[in-house]
Amino acid sequence: MRAILLSSLFLTLLASEAYAQGSAQRGQRIAQRNCAVCHAIARTGESANLQAPAFRTLAQRYPLDDLEEALAEGIMVGHEAPDMPLFEFQPNQIADLMAYLRSIQVKAKPEPKSEPKSEPKTQP
Ligand code: HEC
Repeated sequence: MRAILLSSLFLTLLASEAYAQGSAQRGQRIAQRNCAVCHAIARTGESANLQAPAFRTLAQRYPLDDLEEALAEGIMVGHEAPDMPLFEFQPNQIADLMAYLRSIQVKAKPEPKSEPKSEPKTQP
């Protein structure tokens, strides 16, 4: 198992040059097929699984490069839910997925400076 992971990482490193330019369009299809059942994968909209972060916010949590590495190693960062499938992607699929994810990231909203209240209102 470990050898398989290591060799797939090695192949990823070999291939990363060739596939450095992923296709965001193909990546979107990968996300649609594999991730959209739980995650919001577009620039707008809520995740179907409310615990799953919207993909456009992932870069606010950690550098996307970290995610790329994790995908290449066959590890899905943070997915500890028992119903969570383990994804194994080919290097070119990872490049595509990353290209798509990079294309949809939004910056974190700046913290409101002049709001003394810390409790957000839940009632409209
Ligand atoms: C069965 C539902 C489900 C599917 C399918 C799914 N996810 Fe998730 N994902 C979650 C949930 C729930 C969380 C938040 C809780 C957690 O981290 O386990 C999450 C969290 C994440 C995180 C953030 C982890 C962190 O450390 O903050 C990333 C990145 C992620 N998913 C990527 C993906 C990608 C890429 C796919 C498709 C290839 C995918 N997920 C498919 C349910 C899912």
